[in-house]
Amino acid sequence: MLPVAELHLHIEGTLEPELIFALAERNGIQLPYANLDELRARYEFTDLQSFLDLYYANMSVLQTEQDFADMTRAYLARAAQAGVRHAEIMMDPQAHLARGISLETCVKGVSSVLATSEQEFGISTLLIAAFLRDLSEESALAVLEHLLAMEAPISAIGLDSAEVGNPPAKFERLFAMARDAGLHLIAHAGEEGPPEYIVEALDVLGVERIDHGIRCMEDPALVERLVAEWVPLTVCPLSNVRLRAVDSLAKHPLPEMLAVGLNVSVNSDDPAYFGGYVDDNFTELQEVLGLSEFDRVRLASNSIRSSFASEERKAELLAELGYSGA
Ligand code: ADE
Ligand code: ZN
Repeated sequence: MLPVAELHLHIEGTLEPELIFALAERNGIQLPYANLDELRARYEFTDLQSFLDLYYANMSVLQTEQDFADMTRAYLARAAQAGVRHAEIMMDPQAHLARGISLETCVKGVSSVLATSEQEFGISTLLIAAFLRDLSEESALAVLEHLLAMEAPISAIGLDSAEVGNPPAKFERLFAMARDAGLHLIAHAGEEGPPEYIVEALDVLGVERIDHGIRCMEDPALVERLVAEWVPLTVCPLSNVRLRAVDSLAKHPLPEMLAVGLNVSVNSDDPAYFGGYVDDNFTELQEVLGLSEFDRVRLASNSIRSSFASEERKAELLAELGYSGA
């Protein structure tokens, strides 16, 4: 198993059907599905929104700090099997606030487990607060202010949820506030949205990494810039297939992205919903696209180098991968 960094992962997207039912029972919540098969039958998505509807609905089972902790622990255990040695984990605080769950509950539940992830699972971790771009910037500003006031252990902010019609520029003040607070900056762009959103995320928000970014391939000048500036793109192949951003894995642009010299990594996005974790993404890429050992090592190395881990941690993981002196 190659040592990799997972840079694009929504912790709420790791809620497996079995855990959804277990937490529902623990919390006395009536789910709108009678059993696991009925739930799994809904995992047939037509686009990003059709997935988001189920993703937000299933969060109803997350009620207590313990629930958030159990979800996080389950992800780390599975990620360790997948070769993940460093993980930068997004959570959606606004989705929980909207259900009446406090920031303290969701942040503490997740971060209490992350605090010991390296000792327990061999995975160094950091937490990213992602903001829902289909809500207002005012809502995001209020939540970031609260996170900063409570000294939540976050290292970065991100931007996710329904992309089309919610361009990055809508959140210019939010990203300025996060930059002033010393946080790293990332944003989903070019998943379903046009290449212009990638440019806006870089130029207006000043992000250091782009989540997805696959639609950059429609704009050769943008590709040239992304290569020249070595901008990391956290690509999620199985997610792109399940959300129909690409027609099939065989037609995924990843090989071409590697060939033109883009800084791409492979990530799982919402593994419980899209058919697999990082190792499953690598296995299917190898089987369907014939991805070589050379390219797999390059993807792993890109993931480690593009992370916000300390220089020591990066050097340690690159050495494990066979690079000396970083
Ligand atoms: N939230 C969780 N997964 C997402 C994705 N793939 N795109 C946008 N928002 C998300
Ligand atoms: Zn995502």
